[in-house]
Amino acid sequence: MLSITSSPVQALSGTAIVPADKSISHRSVIFGALADGVTEVTNVLTGEDVLSTVAAFRSMGVLIEGPDSGRLRISGAGKFGLQAPGNEVDLGNSGTSIRLLSGLLAGQRFHSRLTGDESLRRRPMGRVVDPLTAMGAVIQSSEGCPPLDIRRSKRLTGIEYQMPVASAQVKSALLLAGLYAEGETLIYESTPTRDHTERMLAGFSNGQWQAGSAIRINGDIALAGQCLEVPGDISSAAFLLVAATICPGSDLLLPGVGINPTRSAVLAILRLMGADIEISSERLESNEPVCDLRVRSASLRGIDIPADFVANAIDEFPVLAIAAAAASGVTRVRGARELRVKESDRIAAIVQGLGTLGIDAVEYLDGMDITGGAFGSGSVESFGDHRIAMAFAVAGCLSDGTVEIQEAGNIRTSFPNFLSLANSIGMNISESPG
Ligand code: S3P
Repeated sequence: MLSITSSPVQALSGTAIVPADKSISHRSVIFGALADGVTEVTNVLTGEDVLSTVAAFRSMGVLIEGPDSGRLRISGAGKFGLQAPGNEVDLGNSGTSIRLLSGLLAGQRFHSRLTGDESLRRRPMGRVVDPLTAMGAVIQSSEGCPPLDIRRSKRLTGIEYQMPVASAQVKSALLLAGLYAEGETLIYESTPTRDHTERMLAGFSNGQWQAGSAIRINGDIALAGQCLEVPGDISSAAFLLVAATICPGSDLLLPGVGINPTRSAVLAILRLMGADIEISSERLESNEPVCDLRVRSASLRGIDIPADFVANAIDEFPVLAIAAAAASGVTRVRGARELRVKESDRIAAIVQGLGTLGIDAVEYLDGMDITGGAFGSGSVESFGDHRIAMAFAVAGCLSDGTVEIQEAGNIRTSFPNFLSLANSIGMNISESPG
């Protein structure tokens, strides 16, 4: 699999249009497929994860044209119009696809089987299987992991569910199952998670579904096709924000980035560390807050990351770790055990990679301590995890030699043009020979 090499650079500058939001892209395909009528999506992410969701719906008989220059035209099958997929549905590396689809498929009148790549087949599914089973679904897993066999069951019934983990994927799976259940499904979160599904439910139901003090859904909601535009992904922007912050003399503009309040704690964390990030032209597009970001280099200091920021910034910890390594003093994160069950065990991957580069990082069950220092050089394992790979590419900007990152091919799952975009603003990343 592709490995990449990131070499030291001077200041970063220019304008970078980051790829579309992955979470919102998945949901636009899902809701477009379930709606009555046509959904037109512009600026959809063409990363492999979203293409897995598109392929899954095609295998269930939904006509989806594109992506063509970031445009998808989805002829919605209607809530009850999906057909049984002929084969098992392979969702590649995509945790969002398998978890959201397990909720949706639990409510269908046909059998389906969901699987994925080696990394996905190691990821915990009990968190969706257990509450779906409580709704009456019949799902067999392989010791709590994919493949998932979703059997045709009698009609689901709504449940009241207190979420044991902070997970938008679980919440969304239950909301999708709740669309097919008899009675109401009520979900309580102790920590709020990204609310893209709720925003999309409001949009696709033309306001019939509304957010309230509790997250609730029932089967009466009708979904109608929409035109929507996906904002830039703040999780992808985070790599460039950190790179520009740590490379002296940088000044970078990132237009059109989503800053949904359930996703933007990365900005607050970086600012607490001393980053210079300016937000302008705040606007609402397709029911999601969007803005332009300008980042200039700044000296960072280590902080204790506030516990209530952790779930909101969960995907940004690989690159926040690089910011911490470039900061003065110690950065501590706790309450982040979820990092162990992402595309890789991100706590172990970060600590190991930083160690290779000569940075002092200590691993805890639910977090890590990182002491700022100078980046050395070396060859770092990404464990096939896109965000670990891109984070260490950012570290390469300040390396005393080069940073080689192994198994970086999965960058394609979320940020297909990472190399060309990063190089266009002054980074120096190349595909390693062989
Ligand atoms: C996502 C939710 C998060 C996040 C993932 C995308 C989503 O996972 O890490 O990259 O689109 O709902 P959890 O819900 O498991 O925290």
